[in-house]
Formats: sequence, C-alpha cells, structure tokens
Amino acid sequence: MAISNAFNEGELAVQQRAGEAAMALINAGAIDKTILGGALRFIEQQPMVVIGSMDTAGKVWASMLLGNPGFIRALDNKTLELDISQPRSAEDDPLWSNLIENPDVGLLVIELGSRRRIRINGHVRKVSTECIIIDVERAYPNCPKYIQRRDWKKLEATEPHATTASTVGNELNETQKKLIKKADTLFVTSAHPEHGVDASHRGGHPGFAHIINNRQLRIPDFAGNSMFNTLGNFTSYPYAGLIFIDFGSDGSGGRLLQLTGKAEILWDIDDSQQLDSSGETGGTRRYWQFDITSWQESRLPYGFAWELLDESPHIPKLKRASNFDDTISLQVERIQEETNRVKSFRLRATDGNDLPAFLPGAHLQVMVKLPDGSEAKRHYSLVNNPNDRSSYEIGVLREPEGRGGSRYMHEQVNEGDALEIRLPKNDFRMVTTAEHSILIAGGIGITPILSMMHSLSSKNDSFEMHYSARKLSGFAFGDRIVQIAGDSARFYASKEVGGQRLNLKEILATPKPGVHVYACGPIGLINSVRDTATAQGWPPSQIHFESFGAQPMADDKAIRVHLAKSRQTITVPAERSILDSLLDAGVGVPHDCKRGECSMCTTRVLAGEPDHRDVCLSPEDKTSSMCLCVSRARGEDLQLDL
Ligand code: FES
Repeated sequence: MAISNAFNEGELAVQQRAGEAAMALINAGAIDKTILGGALRFIEQQPMVVIGSMDTAGKVWASMLLGNPGFIRALDNKTLELDISQPRSAEDDPLWSNLIENPDVGLLVIELGSRRRIRINGHVRKVSTECIIIDVERAYPNCPKYIQRRDWKKLEATEPHATTASTVGNELNETQKKLIKKADTLFVTSAHPEHGVDASHRGGHPGFAHIINNRQLRIPDFAGNSMFNTLGNFTSYPYAGLIFIDFGSDGSGGRLLQLTGKAEILWDIDDSQQLDSSGETGGTRRYWQFDITSWQESRLPYGFAWELLDESPHIPKLKRASNFDDTISLQVERIQEETNRVKSFRLRATDGNDLPAFLPGAHLQVMVKLPDGSEAKRHYSLVNNPNDRSSYEIGVLREPEGRGGSRYMHEQVNEGDALEIRLPKNDFRMVTTAEHSILIAGGIGITPILSMMHSLSSKNDSFEMHYSARKLSGFAFGDRIVQIAGDSARFYASKEVGGQRLNLKEILATPKPGVHVYACGPIGLINSVRDTATAQGWPPSQIHFESFGAQPMADDKAIRVHLAKSRQTITVPAERSILDSLLDAGVGVPHDCKRGECSMCTTRVLAGEPDHRDVCLSPEDKTSSMCLCVSRARGEDLQLDL
C-alpha cells in the first residue's frame, strides 16, 4: 500500500527550496508500506546492510552488519529478520545498545556490484542473542545513480576473527583522514523526531568528502530523486551518523570508521572552481557540512575485499580526464557463425592493450544502428573467459522480428570494423563462496553461462551445466562447452525425435546449503526454474537468474497510461516500453535493469489489466503491481499509482 503524506516538514521545506516539490510528489509513488515481492529475493542475497540508530543522548549512528548472503531474511513483506548468532559488527558497536533503548531503525540494503539498493524504515520488535526482528514501516527502491560499482571478493564463510575493542575519539587522526581522502563511498544516517531513522548512500570521486579540519567535513550534494529524505531530516533534526569503510582490495579490508555529529545544509555555494562548467555539485550548488561530535573505529569481524569495477558515470566529471571513461571503441577482430542464427564477435582494443576486467555473467552495451538510421544500445553477454583480458567476446542471436539491433550486428558489422561499447556491467553475479553451481541455459541464454563455466572451470570449482534448445542445430558454442565442462554438461533438444527434455524437478530435487542455481534464457524457462526451485525448498538467496528482457510481440499495441497522482495521460507507442515513455515525458520512475528482473520499476496498478512479462514479481505481487520496463496492458488503458 502506498504511503499518503509521504514527507515530513523538513523534506517538504528542502523540496520547495530546491524547486523539486512536484517531482518529489511523483517519486513518492515508489514508497510503500511493505517490501514489494521482487525485492524480497534481492534482500536475501546480500552480504551487508547499513543500519541507522539513535542513542539515549539523541545522537544518530550508522553501523554496518556483514554476513554470508541469507543472514538478512524477509519473513514476509512486513517483517525482516537479521541473524546475529554470528558476530556481524564490533561487539561495542553503538548499534547494540541503541537497539535496546530506541526501536527506530533505518536500513539500507545495497548491492554495490549491481548498484541496486532498497531503503527500509522500521521498528525493532525483538532483539535476542540470535536475531533482530524488524517491523517494516516503509520501503522503497532508490536510484542507482552515484554508486561506485564494486564486487565483494571474499567474505570468510566460517569463523569470524576475534575483534578487539573499538577506539574512540573526537578529532580525526592522520590515518582516518587518509581513509576519508581516498573514499569514493560513504553511508549517512539521519533522523526525524516523529518519523524515525533513515539510512542512505553517497558516492563521488575519491576525496569527494572534503576534510575542512579535524572535526569538520563538507560533502557535495548531487541531484537525486528529489525527495530529500536525508537533507530534509537534517532540517528537522540536525544529528547524523556517517560511515567510511576501508574496502581493502587486498583482502585486508574491514576497518570501519563511524562518525556521529551534526549536519547542516549549505545552499548556493560557488563550486565552479572545483570541476567542469557545472561545478563539483553538478549544478545543484548544494553541500552539507558535518561537524564531528565523536568517532568510533573498529575492525569488522570478517576479512573481505571489494574490488572497484567502475565508477558511476553520473558523478560530475572531473576537469582532468577520468580514469574511468566508460565508453570505448573496439575493433571487431573475428566473427564466427556458432549456429545459423547465432554469431560470436571477438573485440579487441585498437592499441592491443588489455581491456578492463569483467566478471562471469557480465554483459556489454553495444551501440547499433537501427533500420531508420537511429542509434540504439543493445546488451550482449560476454562469453569468454574473464581471466582473458586480451579481448571481449559476445554472442548475438539474430532476431528477424526484433527492432533491428541484432540484424545490424549480423548483416552490417564486419571484421575490422569499430564498435562503440560501454564497459561491462554485471547484473547476474556469481556467489564466490559456492560449493557447487547448477547452471541452466535456454537458447541464447547460454552466453553468460559460458563465461561462468570458464570461470568455474579455471578455479576447479564444482559445477554442472544443463543446456536446452528446441533442435540440435540450436546449440551454440557446443564444442567449447564440451571442452570446458566434459561430462558435467548436459544437452536437451526438446523438439528432436527421441530428444530429452529438461527435467527441472529432477535437477533441482535436493536443495543443499552452499549450492547455487543460475538460470538464463527465455522468460518461460526462468519462471519454471524459479517456481520449481521454490516449490522444492530452495531459498531465494540460492536462486539467480537473468532474462534477456521481454521481446516485443507482433501484436503489441499503443497504450494510454493514466497517472493518478500527477493527473497526466501518457501515450505509450507499441514499440516503446511504458517505463521509457514515462521517462521521456519527465516522469521519474526508479529503475535499473530494464529487463523485468530487479523489480525497481514496480508500480501499483489502479485500473486496467497488465500483461505481465517480468521474471521478478510473485503471483501475489502481480495482483496489484506491474514492472513498467517490460510489461504492457491487455487493453488500451492502464491507471497507475504515480
Ligand atoms: S524490473 Fe528492473 S527496471 Fe524494471
């Protein structure tokens, strides 16, 4: 159920002053009293959560809890359980006493690797030595804009290391200043006397949190979702908490610096000297100043290493060239027919240098030309071994009924041509601590699975692979698969005489801790894998999937979308998604994957019958909501709670 009166007086005041009240009202449609279904799975797959809490003196603290995925569980869409039977942060973290004294908490469940996050506000119902139970009061996804993408490489699965007592103080020392100077990420918590505690994220170039002196920081405030939850709280109640983390790319990470103090918004600051013409704040000319009351430094109870994958492209550009320009031109070195409908393309840097690293399951965004001469982006999964940095290789299925991107790749691109690409992105991530992986591919869904197989095989990790196609001639990369996986690969050609069918009930018969299932292919296959696995007792944290998004259908028609809150009607053409049409019209809708997987664009439907084409919503969610990025309507009209 959407929240009425979504904003407190501080938020409203900041929205007014920033001139963003109307957009805030529209974006408030994403705030809900419950966690929407698709986000439940996301929460259970995360190894960390940031929690804001308040101490008896009214000071606000930010804490971070870590564990193996599954330690955060949604008991239902109104209740979260955090397993604290293992150490999750320092024993003397202020959180532990704060939870007893004040039940208000704000949570940020964030996946740095995919830039997804969900904010949850709630009350602690129960704290024991085993668990914390939290009643959810409101939940909403946040835009992924300024998240520096990182992959967590190691989280010791078994024994936490002994923690020593934290150190405390009230002036930053030199080591802490070094940590802040190189930080490109911080977490901030704020509070409102009646509306509780909130946790949020901030990202920027390394050193974006300026050290003014040993007790004062100044942080630029980039344009966001217009709701101003954090800055609004500062206006009503100026206490705040910050966290800086040593991400430790060598595995030594785990130092956590918690600061508590007071925050104040600084409006209309001249920042033009700092960066490019729009200034360090990207045009907002807003900063917030943080006065440190005290700090606490501790070591997290697990060793981990987060490796920076790429910098957010939304952060205002530095005057000097960024190290992380994320669009590059690559040369097509080799094109090979894998089947009569699938071609592979091997791409190399024109200077022959190594390419930026990618993770198994990642995809490239390639610029293609459509038949009408316009340019468009298409996502193609990488199929090569992530250890081989000399090239990127993608597999492209020719779709005669599609909008022309794959036809361009098949018909117009030749060896020696240049292709514009954006650096690899990964929304289909592997669990690095898995004891065994079950890989399931349908059709062109073999592409990310192939890079996963390369990765597992090169580490000698245990896996099995099941590949389904209609005909024997539809198996792409067959030789390569056999070479990598040998007997661990099984092929199912459902339309061949005597061909075997994929038997998911059998493959997924025995859920085991430490075993993870990965599926990629058509929406029907993914829904079958998810439904079968769930029915057999697999927890959501062990089921991972990626679809290629809903393909347009020949009989798709234009839809009139009526927005109840903003009282607008937007016409969505047959060849455009509802989400893209709303974004074109300036309607802010949180989104990320645009493939019906992440649930960030889930919106309540007030009237009309959706034609659901996502792979993330449960049957129950679908009775009231839809994913705007892929789903359409059975009739000509839809009314949305926006
Ligand atoms: S489900 Fe991810 S943006 Fe729509």
